[in-house]
Amino acid sequence: MTQHAALIGLGAHLPPRQVTNDDLSRTLDTSDEWIATRTGIRTRRWATPGQATGDLAVEAGHRALKSAGLAPEPGAVDVLVLATTTPDHPCPATAPRVAARLGLGPIAAYDMGAACSGFVYALATAAAQISAGQARRVLVIGAETMSSLLDTGDRTTAVIFGDGAGAAVLTAVPDAAAPGVLLATDLGSDGSGFDLAYVPGGGSREAAAGPVRDPAAHTLTMQGEKVFAHAVTRMADSVTSLLGRVGWAAGDVDRLVGHQANIRILTSLARRLQFPVERLVLNIDRVGNTSAASIPLALTDAVAAGELTAGDRVVLAAFGGGLSWGSIALTWPEIAAV
Ligand code: COA
Repeated sequence: MTQHAALIGLGAHLPPRQVTNDDLSRTLDTSDEWIATRTGIRTRRWATPGQATGDLAVEAGHRALKSAGLAPEPGAVDVLVLATTTPDHPCPATAPRVAARLGLGPIAAYDMGAACSGFVYALATAAAQISAGQARRVLVIGAETMSSLLDTGDRTTAVIFGDGAGAAVLTAVPDAAAPGVLLATDLGSDGSGFDLAYVPGGGSREAAAGPVRDPAAHTLTMQGEKVFAHAVTRMADSVTSLLGRVGWAAGDVDRLVGHQANIRILTSLARRLQFPVERLVLNIDRVGNTSAASIPLALTDAVAAGELTAGDRVVLAAFGGGLSWGSIALTWPEIAAV
């Protein structure tokens, strides 16, 4: 019998170190007023020394399992997917160690590299594994220490990004109309724009170029304006095609949970979709752009604030480096975020 993937658990974790716009303005030629007006960000969290992506992922994973009513033990889930741009090491993937630290047993565990779209890519892939009968339950985590990729002297990137982790549990259900079932997914990419937001060094391309390693090449470089324009059009097109597949009009959607990259990107997206701005889920003011952790962090905050309730028609939309993008539709389940 065909199985469908339903959301049953949600959790998040932020590192304790708060970095406000005023903190950044002390060392950078910027201001709280510029950052808040141009991006919507007021503060963000950065990992403390000694805290890596895997550490944040373990915390968020624990919470999502608890939210799903599952103990962290062998048999809890059969697959762990970790979406991240900032793995603990270039090799191996971070997911197996996270699975081991969570005590989940010898399960399939792999990283998903789709930058800020990573969580949506990972959810879609996990749901496909469930539908294909390869898995019964999957833990999907989006975790990032974007601060590890930043040149803290570059005001065009240092003010944008934050660290954090969010996680979800998907389970197989027989009923396609059950609450929480991922009703449709839409994924896409355009690699001709790979260098609009990227880290030049640290990979085989740098090694192929010669033996000299330039430390400056190991930080994120971004063409903000071009990324902004792509983010709006790609997410709008993805959501439009997704809605066509589900049979919803934009006005039928109760909550649009977009990647928290810039508040102006999200309001432009809403305008383009003719979607009411007040139905956007927003938490960028508190966390900044946390890349693959962005959507699960926004979902967890929205549940805690009572902004997402059972039965709501919800659309998730992400855009990131790659270029990559994706969207997912679901009817919100009864869920307690941890
Ligand atoms: N503080 C003060 N001034 C700044 C600044 C900062 N932190 N960063 C840039 N500026 C300046 C620029 O130097 C420029 O000055 P100039 O006009 O004298 O040349 C001016 O502000 C405007 O720069 P611009 O890059 O056009 O600003 P913007 O309105 O496009 O905002 C971003 C910049 C990065 C906030 C915006 O482009 C953005 O959010 N892009 C998408 C980023 C994103 O989504 N990244 C993640 C990819 S998944």
